[in-house]
Amino acid sequence: MNETILILDFGSQYTQLIARRVRELNVYCEIHPFNKIPEDLSQVKGVILSGSPFSVRDEKSPIPDLTNIRKKFPLLGVCYGAQFLAQSNGGEVLPSKIREYGRANLGFIDYDSLLMKGMSHNSQVWMSHGDTILNLPEDFNIITSTESVKVAGFKVDNEETYGIQFHPEVYHTSEGSMLLNNFVVNICRCSQNWTPDSFVETTVASLKEKLGNDKVVLGLSGGVDSSVAAILLHKAIGKNLYCIFVDNGLLRKNEFEDVLHSYKDLGLNVKGVDASDRFLNGLKGVEEPEAKRKVIGNTFIEVFDHEAHLIQDVKWLAQGTIYPDVIESISVKGPSATIKSHHNVGGLPDFMKLKVVEPLNTLFKDEVRLIGRTMEMPSFILDRHPFPGPGLGIRILGEVTRERVKILQEVDHIFIQGLRDDNLYNEVWQSLAVLLPVNSVGVMGDERTYENVVALRAVGSTDGMTADWSHLPYEFLAKVSNRIINQVKGVNRVVYDISSKPPSTIEWE
Ligand code: XMP
Repeated sequence: MNETILILDFGSQYTQLIARRVRELNVYCEIHPFNKIPEDLSQVKGVILSGSPFSVRDEKSPIPDLTNIRKKFPLLGVCYGAQFLAQSNGGEVLPSKIREYGRANLGFIDYDSLLMKGMSHNSQVWMSHGDTILNLPEDFNIITSTESVKVAGFKVDNEETYGIQFHPEVYHTSEGSMLLNNFVVNICRCSQNWTPDSFVETTVASLKEKLGNDKVVLGLSGGVDSSVAAILLHKAIGKNLYCIFVDNGLLRKNEFEDVLHSYKDLGLNVKGVDASDRFLNGLKGVEEPEAKRKVIGNTFIEVFDHEAHLIQDVKWLAQGTIYPDVIESISVKGPSATIKSHHNVGGLPDFMKLKVVEPLNTLFKDEVRLIGRTMEMPSFILDRHPFPGPGLGIRILGEVTRERVKILQEVDHIFIQGLRDDNLYNEVWQSLAVLLPVNSVGVMGDERTYENVVALRAVGSTDGMTADWSHLPYEFLAKVSNRIINQVKGVNRVVYDISSKPPSTIEWE
């Protein structure tokens, strides 16, 4: 078990960022809802209270029970967390007169306070709250102020309890990592030994113990998460890991063969299953995006279930679930509205009756990549762009047919290969081509054409939640567009998508 910083979530959009910053210090941390504090706190070295969209003055504001925490562990309240500590101990929190959004500078710093050690005078911090702490309880002392916020930070007498009204986790707080380091390392005394190497070592050991001689089945998708999960499990149980890689007929050009090949090179016990006919038959006449997702998701489950039953005595189902999926399902705000149903969240149905093992369910996406690199997995697998489970099925607008898949595969191939050739592939977070359900008029030689329009899309992002369209060079776009129109029969027009998310989404369906 790892030394842990417990982060209690009050619903702030920044809670995950706190976790990432703590982990960048090589300290393990977990996010739990404020009202579901774990019973076993034996590994906990300190606790952070997150911000919140609520005001402490709201009737329905989230109120944690800190009986097992306060004075037992070092405690840091951030924004709402700080205001809660102040108010619940007799301080006064009021709506702030000046809207305290955005940048501010730390004018006063109490250098005797361990939390503020090394922080620079005038250090920039990011404020984002509508309330402010006007009066502190008697035994609370100010440790830092800005020009307009007197209580920018406080410490409680005779206990390691702190509060700050700014956000140390956001980029705009220039010395935020130093402050978190002060808390986590100097105050909580965490030993900073949570590294990719140690993660691999302890995870493999615990998988060995948990799985023993049992057989495990895992669906590989070609994506980073399932691949890294497979390699970890392979290290732990070798040939007892049975991998299944399904060709749904909606993969990129040559993807099935290439990826299968590299999995075999990695020593995995993997079976490639060509189920493309089944998927494409199921998609006949289906045009509505969510209906397509359901057909693809259900067909995958049927195929996978059939294949899993062919393995005798299999006991476990392994999944590449990562931490953001877990947090989303337990989040304080409740699951956010379903904009698109992602079939990889929520798992496979009960009828499979297998126990579930999820070796990556404590990791963020970039940590999964780091673990993969530590295990020396090839960049071909680790650095590939995200690719949705329903594949090209949700990039062919309207009905999906074999011919249309073929056209899109060719277009996509030219685009992706072009990005690789011009060293642009790793500059963008995700790139894709979309086949539109409209024809446009063109002219080729002396002939009038009436053919398909395709859209190219490339975006920058860190997690897919928000994204900005990539400003690919005009020369590159011109070159790729020419190639596509010249080489792909059935396409006479290429457009480039210049929408950001929000309000658009990354995929078109
Ligand atoms: P959107 O289109 O919602 O996509 O902005 C955000 C990220 O999620 C991927 N995506 C999916 N992944 N099943 C998946 O496994 C899906 O149904 C699905 N829909 C979107 C998308 O490629 C992007 O990376």
